[in-house]
Amino acid sequence: MELNGKVALVSGASSGIGAATARKLAANGVKVGVAARRLDRLEQLVSEIRAAGGEAVAIAMDVTDPAAVAVGVKKLADTYGAIDIAFNNAGLMPISDVESLKTDEWHRMMDVNVKGLLNTTAEVLPYMKKQGGGHIVNTSSIAGRKVFPGLAVYCSSKHAVTAFSEGLRLEVAPKHNIRVTCIQPGAVESELFEHISDEKYREQMEQLKDQMTFLKAEDIADTILFALKAPKHVNVAEVFVLPTTQPW
Ligand SMILES: NC(=O)c1ccc[n+]([C@@H]2O[C@H](COP(=O)([O-])OP(=O)(O)OC[C@H]3O[C@@H](n4cnc5c(N)ncnc54)[C@H](OP(=O)(O)O)[C@@H]3O)[C@@H](O)[C@H]2O)c1
Repeated sequence: MELNGKVALVSGASSGIGAATARKLAANGVKVGVAARRLDRLEQLVSEIRAAGGEAVAIAMDVTDPAAVAVGVKKLADTYGAIDIAFNNAGLMPISDVESLKTDEWHRMMDVNVKGLLNTTAEVLPYMKKQGGGHIVNTSSIAGRKVFPGLAVYCSSKHAVTAFSEGLRLEVAPKHNIRVTCIQPGAVESELFEHISDEKYREQMEQLKDQMTFLKAEDIADTILFALKAPKHVNVAEVFVLPTTQPW
């Protein structure tokens, strides 16, 4: 698909993978709605994109709030007149053992990683159907393919994203010309570990950085651009991308 002039919504754009992808999309001529809760970060990103000659608008949006998502998606459509690409990427990973019963964190992971992605999908789909096509990219994870101790709830949330992506593709790709890509990264440098409240797992995750060279958020952005730029008849349905030195 020719990206120049297209309109994209990027959730989780205030840091990490989302911010890197928003920058690359804008550099390819895409008008980007950068969405997250931290508006200051989004405004900074918008300034940076505009200074580089791109187009972007900041959308303060908590994906767990369906009303806020509806307003945010409408803002993007009103600003640029379409929604061609939706990158459902907002997520968090406060991991711990199940027996620690950090139930608030379990619920937050399900609310953001799963329900948030559903909320955004529900708002962008009608636009894409009306336009006669589109591309939805969902951020799952290696945790959406495999299960690890300490990650039971996070893996559950990402397996849900993988399953939903495939079900969505089966329904909307042939019928509505809406391509669906599920991206499943291994370890990527970002702010993801900052929200781990469990000391043991926080330390374990930080130590991984000594064992392998993490992917950069830009590496994931490049693979997303590859899927988006594929010819119209090609749906890159899954992308499993890992650090070369990742041993699991
Ligand atoms: N880093 C990895 O190793 C890795 C590997 C596989 C998959 N992933 C997945 O990649 C995605 C992006 O994560 P990242 O690694 O780039 O981490 P990150 O830097 O922590 O980015 C997470 C993004 O999600 C947003 N977010 C969190 N809660 C939100 C909410 N309620 N509403 C709207 N936005 C929310 C954050 O923005 P605000 O806080 O401003 O709202 C932030 O922009 C996540 O889905 C993650 O599970 C990451």
